[in-house]
Amino acid sequence: MKAKKFFAAAAGAAMAFTLAACSGGGAGSTEDPTDGSTAGGGEVSEGGLVGVAMPTQTSERWIADGEAVESGLTDLGYEVDLQFANDDIATQSQQIDQMITNGVEALVIAAIDGTAIAPQLEAAAASGIPVVSYDRLILDSPNVDFYVTFDNYNVGVQQATSLLVGLGLLNQDGSEGEATGPFNIELFAGSLDDNNAHFFYAGAMDTLEPYMTDGTLTVPSGQTDIEQTNILRWQQETAQKRMEDLLTSTYTGGDAELHGVLSPYDGLSRGIITALQNAGYGPSIDEGLPIVTGQDAEIASVKLIADGVQFSTIFKDTRKLADQAVVATDSLLKGEEPEANDTETYDNNVKVVPSFLLESDIIYEDNIESLLVDSGYWTADEIASGVAE
Ligand code: BGC
Repeated sequence: MKAKKFFAAAAGAAMAFTLAACSGGGAGSTEDPTDGSTAGGGEVSEGGLVGVAMPTQTSERWIADGEAVESGLTDLGYEVDLQFANDDIATQSQQIDQMITNGVEALVIAAIDGTAIAPQLEAAAASGIPVVSYDRLILDSPNVDFYVTFDNYNVGVQQATSLLVGLGLLNQDGSEGEATGPFNIELFAGSLDDNNAHFFYAGAMDTLEPYMTDGTLTVPSGQTDIEQTNILRWQQETAQKRMEDLLTSTYTGGDAELHGVLSPYDGLSRGIITALQNAGYGPSIDEGLPIVTGQDAEIASVKLIADGVQFSTIFKDTRKLADQAVVATDSLLKGEEPEANDTETYDNNVKVVPSFLLESDIIYEDNIESLLVDSGYWTADEIASGVAE
């Protein structure tokens, strides 16, 4: 949703409300937002130019994130230069260089590779430009002023918990389930250059470990190390290929039956599900498809959950994250210290970056309506069609 439309739709409302209202397409716009360097709604900008660097448009969450940050900043009178980098590190570095050349007064960055933009940040610091690290921590640089994100370790705990619920080992309320196993599972992790991937995997593995130790859960491929399970750049095709390879190497000829897959992102989940279905599993959970988890509540995956195909996802309300990024940027530009709720967890190898962490929720088929529809993140029609409007 572009700033102008956003303003037309939400004129007169307070910022917190307008950010929340920026959805129905919480994660849904398909418009090209790369022309985002405008002051919203024709308002006169008083606040200066802010550069917003997002990693990619292949995942709808980053489009929604970028547009929500843009809307919130323009609402406060800033001009915004919003760029997406096609998951290409060089492109993102060039975009940030260009933003600095263009005279931005602050930067909001969701890095592709957390370690790759230190030179850009040095240039930013030399010009007195504050930097907000958005969702993914920027590493190896002292020039990161604030970090807004979710409790990433807990996201991993939630992913593993939903796998245990799907297998019947736990109930949704956390009590012990009726199933006893043993069950066969396989594990997937995100991109190694994304700091979050390590937090998600640590949270998940700590949760699964007791069940693996007592034999309730087995990983027949033996691939449990993040060096073996990671998927570079979170690519769906790479996850599908790895699942196909695992099925061929470990699950052919009645060797073993697969019961569950830990997946850390909905795009990967859909690749994994395609590989499983092509190999004859399912097509739905009721018909024998293994339990597959996810993250981001992408519309295509929410439909799969409603249809009993994907088991779960993690809902991270990007509207709230964008809201925090806007508040933090505004504070920094006013020379104030943004309000942090965590000053210990996120060490970027140079310093502990003060952070604001948000909470996430597990989505199952039976709480789609209360958490996603009632909050206006997706409409019932979008969930029925699997397509964002
Ligand atoms: C984000 C996740 C997202 C993943 C892939 C991570 O940094 O925290 O929400 O699923 O990137 O885009």
